[in-house]
Amino acid sequence: MSETGLARSRSAASAWRTGSTASRCSPPSRSATAYATPTDSSGRARTATRSRANPPGRLRTLLAGDPTDNANANVIRLGGRLAAITESPVAVAVDPATLATEGILEHDDEAGAQHTTAHPLHDASRGEHVGYGERFGLDHQYEIYRIPDGGTEREVVGTVPVDEPAYMHSFALTERYAVLTENPFTANPLRFLHPDRSFVDAYEWHPESGTRFIVLDRTTGAVVAEPRVPAFFTFHHANAFERERTEAGAEGDSDGGNEIVVDLVAYDDADVLDGLYLDDIGSSTPDASTGELRRYCLPLDGGRVTGRTLADVGIEFPQVSPAVATAMEPHRYVYGQGDTDADRNANELVKVDTEAGDVQTWAERGVYAGEPTFVPAPDTASEDDGLVLSILLDINAEQSALLALDGRSFEERARAIVPHSIPFGFHGRYFEEFES
Ligand SMILES: [Fe+2]
Repeated sequence: MSETGLARSRSAASAWRTGSTASRCSPPSRSATAYATPTDSSGRARTATRSRANPPGRLRTLLAGDPTDNANANVIRLGGRLAAITESPVAVAVDPATLATEGILEHDDEAGAQHTTAHPLHDASRGEHVGYGERFGLDHQYEIYRIPDGGTEREVVGTVPVDEPAYMHSFALTERYAVLTENPFTANPLRFLHPDRSFVDAYEWHPESGTRFIVLDRTTGAVVAEPRVPAFFTFHHANAFERERTEAGAEGDSDGGNEIVVDLVAYDDADVLDGLYLDDIGSSTPDASTGELRRYCLPLDGGRVTGRTLADVGIEFPQVSPAVATAMEPHRYVYGQGDTDADRNANELVKVDTEAGDVQTWAERGVYAGEPTFVPAPDTASEDDGLVLSILLDINAEQSALLALDGRSFEERARAIVPHSIPFGFHGRYFEEFES
């Protein structure tokens, strides 16, 4: 399962709660597949949803919980099972051999968020996943939770009250901290109930607020820093780690103390969402934003936050070696889906050296590559010793393939062609323990 970007209507974006069509997991991509979608009176592409025609039902769904089980965004290992997940608090067990669904994995806990991340992160040393959710009600709050390995119960680590919750898609995790990147794209949840508005229509871009990093101690649940920076929007974080500010390579005003380094894909604003409307993607001149790989350094002593672009390349679906990410260690290399093809007849896979700023690319005309997944070589100590896997769609041959690139040279090592096309998906993972 991999995510290659997708087309989505406004109301499809609201479907995370109503059980229809896609989730809101999609950054922009020229490799999108558009679903047949009716239009509303304004000509805006829409997909009818239960909630639009039934406001009381929508209220009940929003606040009491009747979330979609269309868990099509990501996969994790949860409670010893392979679980498909999305932005609703529902995990669906999947047979790793047959991919048959095996029912909902009940959480049976007190976590009550109605909207969750599709990107919980695994900490191998602590033996737990960490994620966050957004709870709407008379009061609203972000909930950061942990799920100890072997179970499905979420334990709330800390909460952050908020007047108007932001749309957030992923977050960052270090050895001691969880970092929420709060886009200034916020909504009063009561606006979710408007019968003529979809979920995403309720949000508004407030650049004057800036983007807030919320740094929460994973042990105490306390918010230890919440610096704001000039506004940007993000879907996906690549990785994060802690370091001494005086170490070689530390950036910004180095005066000692610790800092958190967060690498993410940033957009200037939330207009990237406009590029995901089906009517825009289906046009001959689609208007899609391009993300850039950006590094923010967050001093924990209240010092000045610095941010800079790591490489001159359009990128989404950032990935690092899972060996690095799950060990909460610093990374050097970020893999991603590139977007620099001017004629929009393909996209790229890219490898960014965050230290040197160099970019290696792989591309093939007429071929669209999905999210890369890095698979480390057995028993290696080298971060880029391994394979980069990606599902390709050859639009001329009308068939897909699994591509394997060498992690170091970024040259093709193998390609397994399938005799048909594979629909674009979302995110993917490699599970060695699920090999059959
Ligand atoms: Fe995602």
